[in-house]
Amino acid sequence: MSGATVIDHPLVQHKLTRMRMKETSTQEFRRLLREISHLLCYEVTRDLKTTTTTIETPIMEMEAPILAGKKLVFASILRAGNGLLEGMLELIPSARVAHIGLYRDPKTLTAVEYYFKAPSEMGERLVIVVDPMLATANSAIAAVERLKERGARNMRFVCLLAAPEGIKAFNEAHPDVPVYTAAIDQQLNDKGYIIPGLGDAGDRMYGTK
Ligand code: PRP
Ligand code: URA
Repeated sequence: MSGATVIDHPLVQHKLTRMRMKETSTQEFRRLLREISHLLCYEVTRDLKTTTTTIETPIMEMEAPILAGKKLVFASILRAGNGLLEGMLELIPSARVAHIGLYRDPKTLTAVEYYFKAPSEMGERLVIVVDPMLATANSAIAAVERLKERGARNMRFVCLLAAPEGIKAFNEAHPDVPVYTAAIDQQLNDKGYIIPGLGDAGDRMYGTK
């Protein structure tokens, strides 16, 4: 039991390999992340409840399925979460969005919050938290804590790459929040980076250092 659902679709794995490659450009990295986000979104929403509505096709009336319940929320952990968020919003344009600004202190690896904004009625919505990287899990744990403080009860966490240490820590802190990832890597290095990993996701997305 890894404590996470691995989305091992061949297209996800192929695109992830290209993202890991150090020669992949910033532009290409962003494009691949957006494409993967569609595939991850498809998997993480496959059990959403539907209801029906009466429509008329050009031929006849029918009862057709539509999503049930209140609009879901994508909660993006800044900065790198926005790479997943943008693609997921293309699939579910009606979703609400929460932003949680967190950076990792490079010495302590603890998460430092600098921004938080979330929609209303969080307790009645499915909240899908997105961040490409789950390393120590300090950022994800802090983000989910903040969302719970705002009333969120039904959450899922989606990332691209996870370290076994991060999955364990996250599962212990938030056993009620399932984790979805495209891959589980070997471990963390002494600087808290996932190995083999893909480097610093935010820097690779935005061309910073
Ligand atoms: C990265 C990444 C996660 C966090 C993961 O963000 O996007 O949010 O590190 O590490 P953790 O699991 O050990 O907390 P970073 O803090 O580098 O900020 P950025 O997205 O603004 O670059
Ligand atoms: N954050 C990143 O962007 N990459 C890692 O490997 C770990 C944390």
